[in-house]
Amino acid sequence: MSIRQKTLLRVAAAGLLLGASALAAQAQDTVKIGLIVPMTGGQASTGKQIDNAVKLYMQQHGDTVAGKKIEVILKDDAAVPDNTKRLAQELIVNDKVNIIAGFGVTPAAFAAAPLATQAKVPEVVMAAGTSVITEKSPYIVRTSFTLGQSSTIIGDWAVKNGIKKVATLTSDYAPGHDALKFFKEHFTAGGGQIVEEVKVPLANPDFAPFLQRMKDAKPDAMFVFVPAGQGGNFMKQYAERGLDKSGIKVIGPGDVMDDDLLNGMGDSALGAVTAHIYSAAHPSQVNKDFVAAYKKAYNQRPGFMAVGGYDGIHLIYAALQKTGGKADGDSLIAAMKGMAWESPRGPISIDPETRDIVQNVYIRKVEKKDGELYNVEFETFKDVKDPGKTKK
Ligand code: PHB
Repeated sequence: MSIRQKTLLRVAAAGLLLGASALAAQAQDTVKIGLIVPMTGGQASTGKQIDNAVKLYMQQHGDTVAGKKIEVILKDDAAVPDNTKRLAQELIVNDKVNIIAGFGVTPAAFAAAPLATQAKVPEVVMAAGTSVITEKSPYIVRTSFTLGQSSTIIGDWAVKNGIKKVATLTSDYAPGHDALKFFKEHFTAGGGQIVEEVKVPLANPDFAPFLQRMKDAKPDAMFVFVPAGQGGNFMKQYAERGLDKSGIKVIGPGDVMDDDLLNGMGDSALGAVTAHIYSAAHPSQVNKDFVAAYKKAYNQRPGFMAVGGYDGIHLIYAALQKTGGKADGDSLIAAMKGMAWESPRGPISIDPETRDIVQNVYIRKVEKKDGELYNVEFETFKDVKDPGKTKK
């Protein structure tokens, strides 16, 4: 090799080294979040709300926290848990994300849990609502809700408000089973009677045959849990079958009356009483600002899934601030435990023992205000923990 060739080689090697260290420095300066949500399929409205809310939060607060640049990598799992698992694996192994987040349905949150544990990567659950989710990994933190939080409260409310006979219609998978279990426990303990119980499939449910059974059972009210995104179709079939005319009121957790679909449901939704964690009509300044900003950005009303996403990204920002930018899983989870802040839904916190969300549950009634339908809150239960854990 000539001297000239040797010099060229040395220069090239030095260049490579420089390039590698610049890349490493860049990686250290970036915190990557893998956002896995359903952007297509039956649960797409959940993914879109969460994606919208995360983008809105980052526009409002910038994309740098504690000297780190925040990079969100969005992946569509269509709410199919095999996809969730594959995407979480790719994000952790190839993209080297620091955090995985999203999870539009319980089976998706379950599918990612072993990977979060193995890789020590926080899994921020922004949507799914089955109690046991947070017990599937010490790296799971939840900013959504549990069905137990709302279903226990609507069960007690039904008893106190003279509802004696209830027919139930619940989506036949884990959060539906939780909703039914917690409602039944509270409603029957207070003397209420379940006169009909139907479970509908999660995917593309046709409610019509089930609604006929509900009508024949002649209950005072029907308790309904369908996941976000299905309420519009449910209420359409409810009205078509004449259940509104036969005086069978809808009660339940608020998922069926999701704010993003409520206006399209028409007057058959009027009077429905549900217990839930968020209403677009929540009368706080934080919420008014949130609703106005979301409407301005996306020309639609945010629902509770948007709020789960908004709070989830806030939790990540606040945790990074607290760790001074340290982004390993153990530091982030430790920082998230006990964190408290004011969300558009009201005051919330992360239970340091369970890593689950503690929040107000509101009882609301659908009313028309200025020509639009809203869930108007009329009673508040403060700082509700997930009853699925406190009973242990
Ligand atoms: C869930 O799959 O855990 C889930 C999804 C949508 C909801 C509630 C629960 O509205």
